[in-house]
Amino acid sequence: MNEGTMSRKGNTMNKTSIAPTNDYCPQTLFLYGTYDDEGKPDFGLFCWFSYIWDDELGVMACIGGEKMTKENIHKRRMFSANLVTESLLSLADYFGNTDGHNPDKMNREIQIGKGSVLPVPILEASPVCYELEVKQFIPLKDGEVMLCRIRNVLQDDLLAKGPGSSAEKLAAIAPVRTTCNRYFSWNGADLGAWGEPGSGM
Ligand SMILES: Cc1cc2nc3c(=O)[nH]c(=O)nc-3n(C[C@H](O)[C@H](O)[C@H](O)COP(=O)(O)O)c2cc1C
Repeated sequence: MNEGTMSRKGNTMNKTSIAPTNDYCPQTLFLYGTYDDEGKPDFGLFCWFSYIWDDELGVMACIGGEKMTKENIHKRRMFSANLVTESLLSLADYFGNTDGHNPDKMNREIQIGKGSVLPVPILEASPVCYELEVKQFIPLKDGEVMLCRIRNVLQDDLLAKGPGSSAEKLAAIAPVRTTCNRYFSWNGADLGAWGEPGSGM
Protein backbone atom coordinates (compact mmCIF):
# COMPACT_ATOMS: atom_id res chain seq x y z
CA MET A 1 0.00 0.00 0.00
CA ASN A 2 1.33 3.45 -0.93
CA GLU A 3 2.14 6.01 1.70
CA GLY A 4 -0.87 8.31 2.17
CA THR A 5 -3.39 5.61 1.31
CA MET A 6 -5.91 4.70 3.98
CA SER A 7 -5.07 1.40 5.60
CA ARG A 8 -7.99 -0.24 7.37
CA LYS A 9 -6.35 -3.58 8.04
CA GLY A 10 -3.36 -2.24 9.86
CA ASN A 11 -5.47 0.26 11.82
CA THR A 12 -3.01 3.06 10.99
CA MET A 13 -3.84 6.09 8.86
CA ASN A 14 -1.99 9.24 7.97
CA LYS A 15 -3.99 12.19 9.23
CA THR A 16 -4.41 15.85 8.26
CA SER A 17 -5.33 18.57 10.76
CA ILE A 18 -8.40 20.51 9.55
CA ALA A 19 -10.83 23.15 10.88
CA PRO A 20 -13.64 22.00 13.26
CA THR A 21 -16.15 19.84 11.39
CA ASN A 22 -18.30 16.76 11.98
CA ASP A 23 -17.87 15.44 8.45
CA TYR A 24 -17.68 11.62 8.35
CA CYS A 25 -19.37 11.41 11.76
CA PRO A 26 -22.95 10.43 10.81
CA GLN A 27 -25.82 11.69 12.93
CA THR A 28 -29.41 10.66 13.40
CA LEU A 29 -32.10 13.18 12.41
CA PHE A 30 -35.20 14.23 14.36
CA LEU A 31 -38.14 16.49 13.61
CA TYR A 32 -38.90 18.63 16.65
CA GLY A 33 -42.60 19.32 17.09
CA THR A 34 -43.87 22.35 19.01
CA TYR A 35 -47.10 24.38 19.32
CA ASP A 36 -47.22 28.15 18.90
CA ASP A 37 -49.43 30.51 20.95
CA GLU A 38 -52.47 29.73 18.78
CA GLY A 39 -51.99 25.98 19.14
CA LYS A 40 -50.67 25.64 15.58
CA PRO A 41 -48.05 22.88 15.23
CA ASP A 42 -44.59 23.56 13.82
CA PHE A 43 -41.91 21.05 12.83
CA GLY A 44 -38.19 21.73 12.29
CA LEU A 45 -35.34 19.36 11.40
CA PHE A 46 -32.50 18.81 13.88
CA CYS A 47 -29.37 16.67 14.23
CA TRP A 48 -27.57 18.16 17.25
CA PHE A 49 -29.29 15.67 19.52
CA SER A 50 -27.81 13.14 21.88
CA TYR A 51 -28.29 11.44 25.22
CA ILE A 52 -27.26 12.25 28.79
CA TRP A 53 -27.33 10.42 32.07
CA ASP A 54 -28.41 12.03 35.33
CA ASP A 55 -30.43 9.68 37.50
CA GLU A 56 -32.15 8.43 34.36
CA LEU A 57 -31.66 8.57 30.60
CA GLY A 58 -32.18 12.09 29.24
CA VAL A 59 -31.68 14.06 26.04
CA MET A 60 -29.49 17.02 25.16
CA ALA A 61 -30.32 19.17 22.18
CA CYS A 62 -28.65 22.25 20.73
CA ILE A 63 -30.46 24.94 18.74
CA GLY A 64 -28.41 27.54 16.90
CA GLY A 65 -29.67 31.08 16.34
CA GLU A 66 -33.27 32.23 16.58
CA LYS A 67 -36.06 30.11 15.13
CA MET A 68 -39.72 29.30 15.64
CA THR A 69 -38.89 25.97 17.31
CA LYS A 70 -36.75 27.73 19.90
CA GLU A 71 -39.36 30.42 20.59
CA ASN A 72 -42.05 27.77 21.12
CA ILE A 73 -39.84 25.63 23.36
CA HIS A 74 -38.97 28.67 25.50
CA LYS A 75 -42.65 29.39 26.05
CA ARG A 76 -43.77 25.85 26.84
CA ARG A 77 -40.58 24.06 27.97
CA MET A 78 -41.57 20.98 25.97
CA PHE A 79 -41.32 19.47 22.48
CA SER A 80 -41.45 16.17 20.61
CA ALA A 81 -38.49 14.65 18.76
CA ASN A 82 -39.62 12.37 15.92
CA LEU A 83 -37.12 10.00 14.30
CA VAL A 84 -36.60 10.70 10.57
CA THR A 85 -36.81 7.64 8.33
CA GLU A 86 -36.28 7.30 4.59
CA SER A 87 -40.01 7.57 3.91
CA LEU A 88 -40.09 10.87 5.83
CA LEU A 89 -37.00 12.38 4.22
CA SER A 90 -38.59 14.72 1.66
CA LEU A 91 -40.86 16.21 4.30
CA ALA A 92 -38.01 16.40 6.84
CA ASP A 93 -35.72 18.19 4.39
CA TYR A 94 -38.53 20.62 3.58
CA PHE A 95 -39.07 21.30 7.31
CA GLY A 96 -35.32 21.84 7.72
CA ASN A 97 -35.14 24.40 4.93
CA THR A 98 -38.35 26.36 5.53
CA ASP A 99 -38.56 29.02 8.22
CA GLY A 100 -41.33 28.35 10.76
CA HIS A 101 -42.33 32.03 10.55
CA ASN A 102 -43.47 31.40 6.96
CA PRO A 103 -47.28 31.07 7.49
CA ASP A 104 -47.46 28.54 4.64
CA LYS A 105 -44.84 26.15 6.09
CA MET A 106 -47.26 23.75 7.79
CA ASN A 107 -49.91 23.75 5.03
CA ARG A 108 -48.95 20.23 3.96
CA GLU A 109 -50.78 16.89 4.00
CA ILE A 110 -49.38 15.35 7.18
CA GLN A 111 -50.91 13.32 9.97
CA ILE A 112 -50.22 15.05 13.26
CA GLY A 113 -51.22 13.56 16.59
CA LYS A 114 -50.61 14.54 20.19
CA GLY A 115 -48.24 13.10 22.79
CA SER A 116 -49.62 10.63 25.31
CA VAL A 117 -48.08 12.36 28.33
CA LEU A 118 -47.26 15.89 27.14
CA PRO A 119 -49.29 18.25 24.92
CA VAL A 120 -46.78 18.20 22.04
CA PRO A 121 -47.46 17.55 18.33
CA ILE A 122 -46.38 14.10 17.15
CA LEU A 123 -45.70 12.97 13.57
CA GLU A 124 -47.84 9.87 13.11
CA ALA A 125 -45.55 8.51 10.37
CA SER A 126 -42.45 8.48 12.58
CA PRO A 127 -41.77 5.12 14.29
CA VAL A 128 -40.08 6.61 17.40
CA CYS A 129 -41.31 9.83 19.04
CA TYR A 130 -39.90 11.29 22.23
CA GLU A 131 -41.99 13.53 24.45
CA LEU A 132 -39.44 15.87 26.04
CA GLU A 133 -39.64 18.33 28.90
CA VAL A 134 -36.79 20.84 29.21
CA LYS A 135 -35.14 20.65 32.65
CA GLN A 136 -32.44 23.23 31.99
CA PHE A 137 -31.67 25.86 29.33
CA ILE A 138 -27.99 26.64 28.85
CA PRO A 139 -27.73 29.80 26.71
CA LEU A 140 -24.51 30.17 24.74
CA LYS A 141 -23.26 33.02 22.52
CA ASP A 142 -25.39 32.20 19.46
CA GLY A 143 -26.82 28.83 20.41
CA GLU A 144 -28.57 27.18 23.29
CA VAL A 145 -28.29 23.73 24.81
CA MET A 146 -31.35 22.18 26.38
CA LEU A 147 -31.18 19.32 28.85
CA CYS A 148 -34.41 17.35 28.72
CA ARG A 149 -36.29 14.74 30.68
CA ILE A 150 -37.77 11.99 28.52
CA ARG A 151 -41.36 11.95 29.73
CA ASN A 152 -42.43 9.28 27.25
CA VAL A 153 -41.29 7.34 24.18
CA LEU A 154 -43.93 6.41 21.61
CA GLN A 155 -42.57 3.42 19.73
CA ASP A 156 -44.27 1.78 16.75
CA ASP A 157 -45.70 -1.63 17.67
CA LEU A 158 -43.52 -3.17 14.95
CA LEU A 159 -40.54 -2.22 17.10
CA ALA A 160 -42.06 -2.61 20.57
CA LYS A 161 -43.94 -5.88 20.05
CA GLY A 162 -43.12 -7.25 16.62
CA PRO A 163 -40.99 -10.31 15.87
CA GLY A 164 -37.50 -10.04 14.43
CA SER A 165 -34.03 -8.92 15.43
CA SER A 166 -32.94 -5.33 16.04
CA ALA A 167 -31.10 -5.48 12.70
CA GLU A 168 -34.29 -6.52 10.88
CA LYS A 169 -36.35 -3.84 12.61
CA LEU A 170 -33.80 -1.11 11.83
CA ALA A 171 -33.76 -2.21 8.19
CA ALA A 172 -37.58 -2.04 8.16
CA ILE A 173 -37.83 1.52 9.53
CA ALA A 174 -34.61 2.74 7.78
CA PRO A 175 -33.52 5.77 9.83
CA VAL A 176 -31.72 8.44 7.77
CA ARG A 177 -28.18 9.50 8.70
CA THR A 178 -26.52 12.77 7.86
CA THR A 179 -22.96 13.99 7.44
CA CYS A 180 -20.93 16.02 4.91
CA ASN A 181 -24.09 18.13 4.28
CA ARG A 182 -25.76 15.10 2.73
CA TYR A 183 -28.31 12.44 3.66
CA PHE A 184 -27.52 8.70 3.68
CA SER A 185 -29.81 5.69 3.83
CA TRP A 186 -29.55 3.11 6.60
CA ASN A 187 -27.54 0.90 4.20
CA GLY A 188 -25.21 3.77 3.30
CA ALA A 189 -26.61 4.91 -0.06
CA ASP A 190 -26.43 8.62 -0.92
CA LEU A 191 -29.89 10.23 -0.65
CA GLY A 192 -28.88 13.71 -1.77
CA ALA A 193 -27.56 17.01 -0.46
CA TRP A 194 -29.34 19.07 2.21
CA GLY A 195 -32.08 20.97 0.40
CA GLU A 196 -32.51 18.43 -2.43
CA PRO A 197 -35.05 15.78 -1.26
CA GLY A 198 -37.59 18.39 -0.12
CA SER A 199 -37.18 20.89 -2.94
CA GLY A 200 -40.39 19.79 -4.67
CA MET A 201 -42.60 19.99 -1.57
C1 LIG B 1 -30.08 18.29 7.91
C2 LIG B 1 -30.41 19.46 8.80
C3 LIG B 1 -30.12 19.40 10.14
C4 LIG B 1 -30.38 20.51 10.98
N1 LIG B 1 -30.04 20.44 12.31
C5 LIG B 1 -30.20 21.54 13.10
C6 LIG B 1 -29.78 21.50 14.48
O1 LIG B 1 -29.35 20.48 15.02
N2 LIG B 1 -29.88 22.67 15.20
C7 LIG B 1 -30.40 23.80 14.66
O2 LIG B 1 -30.46 24.83 15.36
N3 LIG B 1 -30.87 23.85 13.37
C8 LIG B 1 -30.77 22.74 12.60
N4 LIG B 1 -31.22 22.76 11.29
C9 LIG B 1 -31.93 23.97 10.78
C10 LIG B 1 -33.45 23.94 11.13
O3 LIG B 1 -34.09 22.76 10.71
C11 LIG B 1 -34.11 25.15 10.42
O4 LIG B 1 -33.65 26.34 11.06
C12 LIG B 1 -35.65 25.11 10.44
O5 LIG B 1 -36.14 26.28 9.80
C13 LIG B 1 -36.19 25.03 11.86
O6 LIG B 1 -37.60 25.01 11.81
P1 LIG B 1 -38.45 26.29 12.36
O7 LIG B 1 -37.99 27.49 11.55
O8 LIG B 1 -39.86 25.90 12.10
O9 LIG B 1 -38.10 26.43 13.80
C14 LIG B 1 -30.98 21.68 10.45
C15 LIG B 1 -31.31 21.71 9.07
C16 LIG B 1 -31.03 20.61 8.26
C17 LIG B 1 -31.39 20.67 6.79
